Amino acid sequence: MENYCRLQIFNGTFAALKIEYFMPDIFERLLKNYGPIGQHRERAHGYFAFPKLEGEISNRMIFRGKEMIVWSLNNYLGLANHPEVRKTDAEAAKEFGLALPMGARMMSGNSNYHEQLEAELAAFEGKEDAILVNFGYQGMVSLIDVLCGRHDVIVYDAESHACIIDGLRLHPGHRYVFKHNDVEDFEKQLQRAEALISKQKAGGILVITEGVFGMAGDQGKLKEIAALKDKYQFRLLVDDAHGFGTLGKTGAGAGEAQGVQDKIDLYFSTFAKSMASIGAFIAGDKKIIDYVRYNIRSQIFAKSLPMPLVIGNLKRLELLRTQPQLKTKLWENARKLQNGLKERGFDIGKTDSVVTPVYLNGGVEEATAMVMDIRENYHIFCSIVVYPVIPRGHIIYRLIPTAVHTDDDIERTLEAFSATKKKLDAGDYKVDAIPHMANA
Ligand SMILES: Cc1ncc(COP(=O)(O)O)c(C=O)c1O
Repeated sequence: MENYCRLQIFNGTFAALKIEYFMPDIFERLLKNYGPIGQHRERAHGYFAFPKLEGEISNRMIFRGKEMIVWSLNNYLGLANHPEVRKTDAEAAKEFGLALPMGARMMSGNSNYHEQLEAELAAFEGKEDAILVNFGYQGMVSLIDVLCGRHDVIVYDAESHACIIDGLRLHPGHRYVFKHNDVEDFEKQLQRAEALISKQKAGGILVITEGVFGMAGDQGKLKEIAALKDKYQFRLLVDDAHGFGTLGKTGAGAGEAQGVQDKIDLYFSTFAKSMASIGAFIAGDKKIIDYVRYNIRSQIFAKSLPMPLVIGNLKRLELLRTQPQLKTKLWENARKLQNGLKERGFDIGKTDSVVTPVYLNGGVEEATAMVMDIRENYHIFCSIVVYPVIPRGHIIYRLIPTAVHTDDDIERTLEAFSATKKKLDAGDYKVDAIPHMANA
């Protein structure tokens, strides 16, 4: 590849300098560094990353041949292995197979079951209508794309999930981020958005936040945000992945818990958490849902949800609505776990949901040595978050209680945490490198 560069030498004399540019192979560049986690794959694969949990989905599962108490599955209500769910999933797969319906919803992939699930979700969320999307992540990315044009301004929380951040990448207009759950800063960003729109003389404002922030477990300040609707004009979109089924009197989520469900213009949740399934939905007023239905690219240009998933999700929704004892048990377990951690002096931050983070100090290598100890010697499996996801020197254990955990699981976990924290504080886990635990 040849490039020419024009250089002014002196007194207005010009010379052309030929520059040779060697175009690198795109894969070669990528493979120099496999990314922040991928760079450790030779030591970590199959253990710290891509572990395989085997056996029935439950509070105890098998990891590398050993039974573990598992705290890393978003199976909040324990529906993953509920006998009625398993039966419905199996019967629907037998009756319809995985191929049906063939095609995108708009073309040839619609069914009465899809429409029934949408109607039931809308009614449950107190909205006029709902639309199914195949995945939460893709659905949110595509929803942001379909809602906003180049003059619209998006105002969003700084700790938004990757699906919101990636949806913003498709947005051709401006976006203003507000400090996490900081209502004062939120109002400031709203004012900036309003000023820009007045200058442009075009566009509107979409506010995006979450019902529950999945890492720290704190609820979004929906009540305070919604209150500003009296003063400013904006539409509110809430991703309630972790609130759906776990919060509110009926389980309708964070909007219900905070008494502002009617102020949420678009309510969004995945089926991947409380429903222990696949798929997601958006609920709102009939007209806007119809607009989304006819324009959202992730559904128009993709095959619709397979029938067994739709029928399985109808069964899960029925259980979520009719078996409130599952949510009660989930909260009993969450409170026992969270209170037990606090009594033992652990910092669990600002969680006001069942998501239970445990904040510790230490380096990445230390964190991996501690995880190994807790798995190999205490038989506890939970997720760990380290740099670069969070600042260097910090470690977060992320525990997800479910309705199927037992008092014994909680007690053994609290004891193991106390024992391993003592070792962490004493420097027992200081190692030079991430332990070599990859699959042979
Ligand atoms: C807040 C939030 N939104 C969206 C998603 C993505 O959902 P799905 O797994 O259905 O793609 C998740 C799941 O991790 C989530 O926590």
